[in-house]
Amino acid sequence: MAAVILQAKGLAKAYGGLKAVDGVDFALNAGEIHALIGPNGAGKTTFVSLLSGRIAPDAGQITLAGQDVTALPAHLRVRKGIAYTFQITSIYPRLSVFDNVALAAQSQGARDLAGAVGVALGRVGMQGLAGQEAGTLSYGHQRLLELAMGLALKPKVLILDEPTQGLAAGEIDDFGALVRSLVPHTTVLMIEHNMEVVMDLAHRITVLNFGRVLAQGTPAEIRANPAVQAAYLGTDDAAA
Ligand SMILES: Nc1ncnc2c1ncn2[C@@H]1O[C@H](COP(=O)(O)OP(=O)(O)O)[C@@H](O)[C@H]1O
Ligand SMILES: [Mg+2]
Repeated sequence: MAAVILQAKGLAKAYGGLKAVDGVDFALNAGEIHALIGPNGAGKTTFVSLLSGRIAPDAGQITLAGQDVTALPAHLRVRKGIAYTFQITSIYPRLSVFDNVALAAQSQGARDLAGAVGVALGRVGMQGLAGQEAGTLSYGHQRLLELAMGLALKPKVLILDEPTQGLAAGEIDDFGALVRSLVPHTTVLMIEHNMEVVMDLAHRITVLNFGRVLAQGTPAEIRANPAVQAAYLGTDDAAA
């Protein structure tokens, strides 16, 4: 059995009367690509925000490699190896691509800053854009820059919230190859709407619905699960 790197027990977060995350038990295995799917409003972003420390839970516990991190603020979780693209790496539009990644690498304590930036930009295929002002990049390249910034943090666990949103088809292929190249050194948890990407990349899938885990399993198990089909995949299964 694979070692669990990140675990949630009884995680809960309500907004007023709305239980956005309603008692979720979850285990991320070291080295896997794990997809988090579910309808809009299912609680996916809230759940990964709890894991990253961006918001605090009402109840439950989060452990990283067995260590309780529930009370740690997000920046300290980053130091322990949990990087969350949306939170950590919102880009600085007036700075160059290079400087954006350098800030992330610096926060991680990189000694050879230029080298670390070069490696991170190389992984997302953006070395040629290092001098460009980040705010002038295409949307797809801004997303890839966020990813490079996340990688520069040298995370153990990389959490991505809808990373392929707005990417062109060719960029999605490159993204898939990149994610595959990260594991098993890095563990990836990604919220993803593109079912083709999910079924292609994920080793395991967790389905959230109304803040609860509806199902968990391999892509084949999730596809065959009647409850998932009813609640989510429906008739317009994009993976078909
Ligand atoms: N800051 C917030 N304040 C109030 N309600 C929120 C907040 N964030 C999320 N919600 C609500 O919680 C539910 C889950 O949202 P979210 O986690 O963003 O779902 P998903 O990412 O699966 O689409 C939704 O009903 C959403 O409207
Ligand atoms: Mg969301």
